[in-house]
Amino acid sequence: MFASPIIVAPMAGGTTTPELALAARGAGAFAYAAGGYRSAESLAEHLAPLRAAGGDFGVNLFVPRSGPLASGDASSLARYRLELAGDAERLGAELPAELPPADGPRARDYWDEKLDLLLHDPVPLVSFTFGLAPEPVVTALRAKGTRVVASVTSVAEALAAAATGVDALVVQHSDAGGHSAAFLPGAERAAPGVAGLVARVRAAVGLPLVGAGGIGDAATAKAVLAAGAEAVQLGTAVLRSDESGARALHKDALADPAYTATGVTRAFTGRAARALVNGFVRDHSANAPHAYPEVHFLTGPLRAAAAAAGDRESVNLWAGTAWQKAAAGPVAGIVEGFLRML
Ligand SMILES: Cc1cc2nc3c(=O)[nH]c(=O)nc-3n(C[C@H](O)[C@H](O)[C@H](O)COP(=O)(O)O)c2cc1C
Repeated sequence: MFASPIIVAPMAGGTTTPELALAARGAGAFAYAAGGYRSAESLAEHLAPLRAAGGDFGVNLFVPRSGPLASGDASSLARYRLELAGDAERLGAELPAELPPADGPRARDYWDEKLDLLLHDPVPLVSFTFGLAPEPVVTALRAKGTRVVASVTSVAEALAAAATGVDALVVQHSDAGGHSAAFLPGAERAAPGVAGLVARVRAAVGLPLVGAGGIGDAATAKAVLAAGAEAVQLGTAVLRSDESGARALHKDALADPAYTATGVTRAFTGRAARALVNGFVRDHSANAPHAYPEVHFLTGPLRAAAAAAGDRESVNLWAGTAWQKAAAGPVAGIVEGFLRML
């Protein structure tokens, strides 16, 4: 499925740059374009250098929520807006008066438009996160010669994904930085590390597996491969690399001993995600509702104002549990370091 045992993760929000993907691939990794948070036009532009370079690569998309927000979550969202008013004032930002409608293209992350693009101008591989692509979408992509990959966080999710006809699974442990791929309630929070989760999924499904989450060194990568994965996916390990588009304040925070822990929080986007524990995480994790992408849109102006002011305590500093092992420098050196030791 994958020509390399090392995959550099798709990281939406500006972290995955074409330079990151191309340099990672040049060093022997499989690499992705990050399709999340982009319009179809922006994805086409982001993809152009990868298409021009030829060869194997993937595109990652977010699967939108189907249907409106549950009524309990809608009232929690209204309360959460009030809770954020003090932060907005402190940061000199305004909370958006209205959020994009749940059934509109923006809240659906331009799903239909991006699928159209990928069906009309196919790419070698498409992976999905935040849910399962419906079976007809999987079938249509495969009919174009595109390999299709689903992201899962539990055995139950792996079985559901396999039933849609995908070619492979990314098995993401909750040690992972950034958003959780979970889409069924009761994900296996108690699962041992990523190698243990891969072993459980390996016993349940026959598809090729990619292990992800908290892989910061070759020893962990080796254990994940030994547990039955054919590759490992690295996110946090390349966040500080030269080609990563992560903000300087994010890169600096990852290297700053003042940050001593990561935590899983819905405070920034309404979807569980692992980040360095800062003031915003401490203040708001308790009350943040299950409301993605509504909370993402609600906190957007706060995060932008905080980033512009260099305020690390109010932005999402996504990080997996192995963040202290993330090195600076060219991504090729990081990829080659892993490949040498496997
Ligand atoms: C900053 C950041 C952004 C991410 N964005 C995406 C994304 O757009 N799509 C996706 O499938 N996974 C995304 N992930 C998760 C990665 O695919 C991967 O599962 C995770 O990084 C692995 O854990 P690690 O960070 O401990 O290496 C992101 C991770 C980080 C750290």
